[in-house]
Order: sequence, then C-alpha cells, then structure tokens
Amino acid sequence: MVNRQHLRQHFSKAAARYDEAAVLQKLSAQNLDNRLDLMAMQVNQVLDVGAGTGFLTDKLLARYPHAQISALDLSHSMLQQAKRRLMRPIFNWLPPNWSTRLGWLACPVALIQADAYALPVADASQDLVVTNFMLQWCDDLDAVLAEFRRVLRPEGLLMLTSLGPDTLKELRQAWVSVEGEAGHQRMNHFIDMHDLGDALIRAGFGQPVMDVEHYTLTYDEPIGVMRDLKAIGATNAQGERAQGLTGKTRFKAMLDAYELARKQGKIPASYEIVHGHAWAAEEVMKGPGRNKAGVYEITLDQFQNQLKPGS
Ligand SMILES: C[S@@+](CC[C@H](N)C(=O)[O-])C[C@H]1O[C@@H](n2cnc3c(N)ncnc32)[C@H](O)[C@@H]1O
Repeated sequence: MVNRQHLRQHFSKAAARYDEAAVLQKLSAQNLDNRLDLMAMQVNQVLDVGAGTGFLTDKLLARYPHAQISALDLSHSMLQQAKRRLMRPIFNWLPPNWSTRLGWLACPVALIQADAYALPVADASQDLVVTNFMLQWCDDLDAVLAEFRRVLRPEGLLMLTSLGPDTLKELRQAWVSVEGEAGHQRMNHFIDMHDLGDALIRAGFGQPVMDVEHYTLTYDEPIGVMRDLKAIGATNAQGERAQGLTGKTRFKAMLDAYELARKQGKIPASYEIVHGHAWAAEEVMKGPGRNKAGVYEITLDQFQNQLKPGS
C-alpha cells in the first residue's frame, strides 16, 4: 500500500528542487500538451490532478486563457511552487517587468490541496481532466479513475500519462539480485498500458487510446539514479528502508549490482511513459454488441456454439 502521508512528505521535501531533476516529467507534460492540439472541444473548466510545481498547468493556462483552471495536489509545498510559476500580471496594459516590480501579480489558477481519491470538485463540472506522472502513485487505480469520471461532464476528456512496467527495470533487477523476490517491493507497481486501458473502461470511459514511449536516461554512477529519484520525491520504499547498518549494507550491495547494467560506460535508467486519453461518454462506444460498461455479453449457449468447429 502506498502511504499517502509519506508521499506528501516526500513530495513536499522535494518541491524546491523538483524542477531541476524532473526532465522526463517536463517532456511528458509537453507531449501531453501537444496532443491537446488534436482535441477539438470547448474547454471552460480544467482540472490538473497531481499538478506538482505546475509545469503542465502553466501550459494549460497558455492554451486555454479564458478557462477556469484548477491545480490539485496532495502537497502544499508543491502547490506553493506552482503558485510562483503561475503568477500573471493583473493589468495587461502594464509591461510585465513593471507588474513584477510593483507586485501587481495574481495567480489565475485555483490551487487545491487535496487527494485524487476524494476530489473536492462537483460532479460533471469539468471539461478536461489531465494528470501527468501521478497515477503511478495510486495503488487503487479504479477508485481514482472513478473520481475523474465523476467530475467530468458527459463528453469530457481525460488526458493522462503514467509509467509502464519497463520503468527503472535496471534498478528493479539490482534490488532483486540482492533481496530475491522481495526486491520487487522496493519498487512501485507500474501498470501496463493495456491494464490501464481496461481500468478506464471499467470506470465508464469510452474510446480509450493508449500508447507508450521509451526513454533511457544515462548516469555516470548508479548513485546518480538514486539522487535524481530523491530530488523528484520518488524515493518510495528505498528511502524508508535504507536506514540502519543493514539498510546501508544492502543499499551498497544494490548499487554494486546495478553496476552490472553499465553499457558503453554509462549507467542506464529506463523509463516507459504511458500516454492515454479517453472520453467520459455517456454511451460508451467500443464496438458492436457491447453494453455501457464496454462488456461484450454472450450466453453460455452462444459461447459454446462459437467454440464448435466450423462456426
Ligand atoms: C511526479 S510529481 C508530477 C507533478 C506534475 N504533474 C509534473 O508533471 O511535474 C507527482 C505529484 O503527484 C502528487 N500526488 C501523488 N499522489 C497524489 C494523490 N493521491 N492526490 C493528489 N496528488 C498526488 C504528488 O504530491 C506530486 O506533486
């Protein structure tokens, strides 16, 4: 189980330095924003869930200047960073540097400290819900997606990114070689694109479109990977358990095992970024013969008939 109290603490600690290390998060936010070019829709209300320091929110503000945009996060410190980024001049007629000097700035985005599992947002109120690099921290995906579906208006759009199972496979392998199967528990459970697509259907979304992109970051030393994870707040269980002598010895053993992944002189860290979008269609359309939940219903007799040779 992901402890959300710990999560909040980790991300809050990381907030001030998050932007320096969040290379992939920014890239993925940029990709998500680019994909919005293809979505022809009227957008008045937007919710960015797990908004962090507001990198994606900033892009949404530029894209939908007249929309009411909300940035929601567990961590107050993250939202404080977002506020800094999202401040805009109150008066358009003043040159921006004057506005900054005079302090005539305001944050046009509603900043909401809350949990994605219980959004303090009205039913069917949002045209667009986005979430970048947050879902991998949610161990009850169905509950979170149900919340997204609840707050979206019919025909509203969910755009998401998350991390797939190939993410940090070298680090996982290093932990497994030190701790055996227990080493898997050191890592988040990264959800496969197809399982995420299925979860979207279960939550009442229609026409999900999913794809993945693979990236490899390279480092001089394995410890560099761990430092970057810490800098973005993604310490997970490693940070918690590496206390004490045993913890330190194991951590060192893990770093030695990670060395074996070195290729062409560099230490790789693989990332699988899952992109997806789906519509909160009232009538879920996923092909002929399916019911609203996207399930193809068939009687046992029909099923047995289909199994007969030549049918
Ligand atoms: C890796 S950061 C991504 C931030 C931002 N979306 C970006 O692309 O840079 C993950 C963010 O999700 C937030 N978060 C994690 N679990 C959450 C939850 N259950 N509800 C709300 N926010 C959550 C964390 O506080 C953190 O700011």
